[in-house]
Amino acid sequence: MKGCFISFEGTEGSGKTSVIRKIGEYFINKGYTVLITREPGGIRISEKIRDIILNREHTEMDPRTEALLFAASRRQHLIEKIIPALERGEIVLCDRFVDSSLVYQGLARGIGYEAVLGVNQFAIENHFPDLTLFIDVRPEVGLKRVFQTPGREINRLDLEQQDFHKLIYDGYLKLCNSFPDRIKRIPGEDEIDIVAKRCVKEIANLVLGARP
Ligand SMILES: Nc1ncnc2c1ncn2[C@@H]1O[C@H](COP(=O)(O)OP(=O)(O)OP(=O)(O)O)[C@@H](O)[C@H]1O
Ligand SMILES: [Mg+2]
Repeated sequence: MKGCFISFEGTEGSGKTSVIRKIGEYFINKGYTVLITREPGGIRISEKIRDIILNREHTEMDPRTEALLFAASRRQHLIEKIIPALERGEIVLCDRFVDSSLVYQGLARGIGYEAVLGVNQFAIENHFPDLTLFIDVRPEVGLKRVFQTPGREINRLDLEQQDFHKLIYDGYLKLCNSFPDRIKRIPGEDEIDIVAKRCVKEIANLVLGARP
């Protein structure tokens, strides 16, 4: 029995974390086993790699070094956590995956889509998610949510200029258009329950198909 691997993408504050929680509840209530995860996912080696990436003293880090480190962290999380869950037949809901790198580093940071894809293909081999849901929320709407969330830590990316967030958003739309079978666009500016329902609808076919 093989599980289902779903990743969620979107700009800051687009509701990925909230929607994943709802979807998880839905499938748990239906009797499925669900793994909700995000990189580095508590994986020891991935955590250490992430510390290197995020360390504020590492100002000399080259963008391609950063891309390689993200890919390395992703692989370890995949091997140690995602693949074993899939082999147990679980539904894996992953908050961001390979498409975040393609968009953030490939398109927005300017390394180039092909280069970042190449490194990531090496890292994940053929383990692309079965389905990727892009939660479509315009960046200005997502950021407004983020800044209105009490206690939400404002990170380095939240503070990037408006142009950067627009680049990310446009990058995601481009990916959706290029890979319509692999990535589905989910309108995300409605109430959370409505957005979650849209996601469940996309996932349900896949899950039922995987488990006759
Ligand atoms: N559909 C929605 N309508 C209104 N507010 C929402 C909706 N979905 C999420 N929110 C709120 O917006 C904020 C950001 O949501 P969430 O943390 O789920 O987004 P995210 O995509 O995971 O963001 P991050 O980039 O921080 O990981 C939260 O305060 C959440 O409660
Ligand atoms: Mg989140």
